[in-house]
Amino acid sequence: MHEFDEEIDALAAKILEYSLIRLKKDPPLDGPWTYDELYAEVGETITESGLGGEKALDLFKHVLAQACISTDHPRNLAFIPSAPTESSNLFDLVVGASSLYGGSWMEGAGAVFAENQALRWLSDLAGFPTTSGGVFVQGGTVGNLSALVAARYEARIKHPETSKWVIACSDQAHSSIKSAASVMDVEVLTIKCDSNHRLQGATVASEIDEFHRKNTTKRVFAVVATAGTTNLGIIDDLKGIGKAAKERGVWYHVDGAYGLAALASPKTKHLFAGVELADSFIVDPHKWLFAPFDACALIYRNPEIARAAHTQHAGYLEALESGEWNPSDYAIHLTRRVRGLPFWFSLAAHGKKKYAEAMDKTMEVARESAELIKEHPNLDLLMEPELSIVAFTRKGWEAPDYKKWSDKLLNDQIGFVTPSTHEGKPILRFAIVNPWTSLTDIKVILATL
Ligand SMILES: Cc1ncc(COP(=O)(O)O)c(C=O)c1O
Repeated sequence: MHEFDEEIDALAAKILEYSLIRLKKDPPLDGPWTYDELYAEVGETITESGLGGEKALDLFKHVLAQACISTDHPRNLAFIPSAPTESSNLFDLVVGASSLYGGSWMEGAGAVFAENQALRWLSDLAGFPTTSGGVFVQGGTVGNLSALVAARYEARIKHPETSKWVIACSDQAHSSIKSAASVMDVEVLTIKCDSNHRLQGATVASEIDEFHRKNTTKRVFAVVATAGTTNLGIIDDLKGIGKAAKERGVWYHVDGAYGLAALASPKTKHLFAGVELADSFIVDPHKWLFAPFDACALIYRNPEIARAAHTQHAGYLEALESGEWNPSDYAIHLTRRVRGLPFWFSLAAHGKKKYAEAMDKTMEVARESAELIKEHPNLDLLMEPELSIVAFTRKGWEAPDYKKWSDKLLNDQIGFVTPSTHEGKPILRFAIVNPWTSLTDIKVILATL
C-alpha cells in the first residue's frame, strides 16, 4: 500500500490521464442517481481484500462521477456554482500529492507563507490595515461562525455582566448566521431591509438601541452585513452599518462569501465602500474567485483577538508556541489542508488583472442576461443585477411549475437552475460565476421558458 510499485505506477498514469481529460474536456452536466440505482451498479466497495485501484477507478469514472452534477458546467447556474481556473485545479493535484500540513508555521511555513500572501491581497483590496490577517477555512459557514466566536470572546471580556448574547443581521442574511447563532447558543435580532432588500445603517442603529432599551441584560455583540446576498446579490449599506456598529462598540462582520470577490475588479470595488470598517470579513474563493472547493478566506482586523479566542492549548501543542503564525489559531479547526494554496498558485501565475477581467466578464453576461429577460414575453426581471445574480419570475407559474421546469432542464442535460423564493413567492435565479458561461448558454436556457 505504501510502495510506489509497478501496479501503482500504472494506476498513477490512469488517474492522471482521467484528471487531465476531465480538465481538458467540457464536462457533462450529469445529475443525481437514486441510492438504488447506484447500489445496483456499484454494490459493496469495501471488501476484505480490496477491489484493486483500477476497478475502483472504473467505478468512479463510469458510475459515481456521473452521479455528481458538474459545478463548473457553464450552464450550471444554481445555488452558487464554481469555476476553478485550470491552474488552480492542477495545483490542487500537487496539494493532494504533497501531504502538506497547514495548521502550523512549524510544519507548513512555505505553504502558509504563500496562503498568507493571497490573504494579504484580499485584505488590501478591502482596505484593511497591514496588521490584519486570517486563515483559509472550509467554507463561508465555518468562516462566519469562527468570526462570530472571536467577536463574542471579545464582548465577554468587555461586558462580563451580560446574560444573553445577540447577533444582529438582516432578514436577507445567509442561513449560516442563524446556524452560527444556534451553535453558539445566542439569539438573533433580525432587522428588516429597506424596500430594495438592502440593510441600512440607520435602521441597524435604531433597532439595536431599541433592543438594548427593552432588554437590559441582553447585548448585541456583533452586526453582520452581507456584501452580496445569496438570493439576489444585494450589497448592504456597508458604510452606514459599520458606523452604527462602531458607535455602539459592537463587532462588525461582513459576510462577503459570494459578493466580496468583486473587490477584485476596479469597476466594482467602489460598491463595497465601508468594508474597511469591518472587524472581520469572509470571501469564498471557491465561489467567485475561481478556486476549487473548499476555501473561504476569513480575515480579521485584529487577529490577536481571534488567536486568543481560538488557540487550542495542550502539552502536545506547546512545541508550536513559538510566536510564529499558526493558521490553526484563527478559526475552529486544528489540522487543516492548505486549502488556499490552489487559489494562491493561480493568482501568482496569472496576476490580478486576469482576475479582474474574468470577473467583469461574468458581470457583463449577467447584465446582458437581464436585458434578455426583460425582452422575454413570459418573464419578469425582479431587479437589475448589482453583481452577477439575475433573479426573475415566469408569468403565470406556481411553485410546482418551477420545479417541473427545473427537473426537466437537468434531465434534458440542458442546464441546472433551481427555483428559490423571494418574499414567499417562487423565483428563478442565475448565479453567473463562470467566465465560460456565454450569452448563448443563457439563450439556450431562456428558450425553454
Ligand atoms: C452570503 C453567503 N454567506 C455564507 C455562505 C455559506 O458558504 P459555504 O457554503 O461555503 O459554507 C454562502 C453560500 O452560498 C453565502 O452566499
